[in-house]
Amino acid sequence: MERREFITATAGASLWLLGTAKTANAEEKVLATPKIKGKIFELEHKLKPLPFNPTKLQGLSEKMIQSHWENNYGGSVKTLNGLRKRIGEAIEDKDTSPYILNGLKREHLLRTGSVILHEVYFGNLGGSGKCGTDLQNKISSDFGSFENWQNEFKKIAQGLGGGSGWVILGYNYHFKTIENYWSWDHMHSPPATVPLLAMDMYEHSYQMDYGAAAAKYIDAFIQNINWEIVEARLERALKLKWI
Ligand SMILES: [Fe+2]
Repeated sequence: MERREFITATAGASLWLLGTAKTANAEEKVLATPKIKGKIFELEHKLKPLPFNPTKLQGLSEKMIQSHWENNYGGSVKTLNGLRKRIGEAIEDKDTSPYILNGLKREHLLRTGSVILHEVYFGNLGGSGKCGTDLQNKISSDFGSFENWQNEFKKIAQGLGGGSGWVILGYNYHFKTIENYWSWDHMHSPPATVPLLAMDMYEHSYQMDYGAAAAKYIDAFIQNINWEIVEARLERALKLKWI
């Protein structure tokens, strides 16, 4: 091999080796970099503190409210956060069975409803139980009277007593109505509806204070509604647009 040819050949080999090294480094870098996940799988929802002093409620004990907040609501927040990560891992694994994924997604739907409804519930407690005239008029325009609204709301709650579920006063964007909804569990609510007032009818909401006497809890809940919050929710809801 001529000296010139040798230099060209070795230079080429060096470049090839350099290129290989570069490629290997790049591959290593790619492998070392964690997969980019969507933010929904990384989301860590934080517990929302009680927006009222639990010693000040009428007919609902601090012990019961604190236990409800910490164990039932807190448990759902913790489970939802864990589920988000688990679902992220499951969809990255091409071998994940659709049935396994759907089991996780069912629990995800349940816990999402539980977290949101509990935050709505605790958010609409701590008030005087007195609804302002403007909001009473708005509710009356849909229900005929404020009394009609309350009768229906309480009857739905009575019907859920001893079982589980929610009573939800919601603003329905599709029909542009304020309506009460019967909800059998955390996953049960109509589409296009934002909750304005939620009442938890799972036994953990009242059993500690009232045993099986759900009707007493319903009356106590009504006395503690923070209607100013309900009105503010409705005002915000009315500013949003639906199709
Ligand atoms: Fe609850």
